[in-house]
Amino acid sequence: MERDESGFLERCGEIRKLAFSMGDPLVVHHYDADGISSGAIVAGAFGDEGKKFRRECIKKLDDAAIERYAREPETIFVDLGGGNKRVNELKDALIIDHHQTEGIGKPQANPILHGIDGGTELSAAGAAYCVFRKRADLAVVGAVGDMQHPLVGMNRWVLAEGKMGGVVEVEDDLSFYGRYCRPLVQFLAYCDDPYIPGISYREDRAQDLLAELRIPLDARNAEPGNPPAADGVKGKNQRVYADLSDDEKKGLVSALAKIMAGSERARSAEELIGESYVFPKRPRDETYEANEFSTLLNACGRHSQPDIGVRVCLGDETARDEARKLLALHRRMLREGIAYTSKNTQDFGTFYFLDGRGVIDEGIVGVVCGMNLQQSWKKPIIGIALGDGGTIKVSGRAPKSLVAQGLNLGDLMKGACLDAGGVGGGHRMAAGASIPKDRLNEFLLSAGKHMRMDRPEEKG
Ligand code: C5P
Repeated sequence: MERDESGFLERCGEIRKLAFSMGDPLVVHHYDADGISSGAIVAGAFGDEGKKFRRECIKKLDDAAIERYAREPETIFVDLGGGNKRVNELKDALIIDHHQTEGIGKPQANPILHGIDGGTELSAAGAAYCVFRKRADLAVVGAVGDMQHPLVGMNRWVLAEGKMGGVVEVEDDLSFYGRYCRPLVQFLAYCDDPYIPGISYREDRAQDLLAELRIPLDARNAEPGNPPAADGVKGKNQRVYADLSDDEKKGLVSALAKIMAGSERARSAEELIGESYVFPKRPRDETYEANEFSTLLNACGRHSQPDIGVRVCLGDETARDEARKLLALHRRMLREGIAYTSKNTQDFGTFYFLDGRGVIDEGIVGVVCGMNLQQSWKKPIIGIALGDGGTIKVSGRAPKSLVAQGLNLGDLMKGACLDAGGVGGGHRMAAGASIPKDRLNEFLLSAGKHMRMDRPEEKG
């Protein structure tokens, strides 16, 4: 299909008019970081206009949900809906989505329908921004939350709008996660992209390096070498990377570059520096930088408190402390999940398999798979967890190289659900499904069958 950005924006304008013509719609959005930020963009736009609406957040649009919404006179789906033909059975419904879509008869703002890739260059929050033209910072958070970093294509247009409006700035700096909120030791030790030999996954070595560079960990200028907080959440006086002086930053970056240049896998020190997106109108906390903000939202959504995330998005300060508590819980559960994954991932031939039932929560199994996935792998990872109502939650994540070769996990999940029952979909690189708990074998056999390429290679 030919790419048509102006056709897409025109369609978005029509969807805005249709949305605001509704009397009291129910806004239904997804519960991940992109779902929460896109839901907040829609809720914020209705609030700004003083228009009536209700909002709810769901994990999946399954038959039970469709039957509930059949009673609603007006519904707006955000970050979901485009992949489920049963929305055609509903009364007045609008869709703002970026997932693969087919056979939908309801009005829809979806970049995919205009030749723009919703998996890599526009998130649901980006689509919601294109509809309502407000809160571009949240559009950037949604994109980063949906693994669309660094921003390309249509996201670049949203970014330019955000810069023009003074709500987004681009920083070129050390590309590690947590420049604004992660204590320095964890900041260094828990970054593996790029992998720093001797430092990545070694808190003790990270701490030694900081001591060697005479970079104090404590804002009160205590001697270098103070112990970091046990849970990786910034303590009151702990310094973060953003607190360092220019000289300290330079010293740290060149020390890391030297380590990388001297390592066996000598990789370019340029990999250390990358683009990130910050929000000058937001406080310098977990909502200041896009990656950290999206993690905060994921923590809210994946631990059944998406409304706190929406409130944080819309600037409600009273929601911040609650969100931070969820973040601490989220980090602990991810750490436990990853520890389990590193010992329990099995090679199923065409994909790696992680059985997290009873160990990993369904809300984070996808995130754990994504963190476990290595871009050098030659096959995707499929993880499962116990879902609600007698189901199994399935999550898949694929390395970019496979997607470039034509793998489409979203299609694979859909296809396997046709064989095993259940509902699934998503993107080429990240997809999920819910299946009946007694149909796992059928699902896995079918997933293997649908895997386009046979890749017997080992993790490497
Ligand atoms: O839940 P998880 O993070 O693994 O989901 C990855 C992607 O798959 C999300 O974009 C989500 O929208 C999609 N998905 C889906 N249907 C499901 C579960 C997930 O389309 N039942």
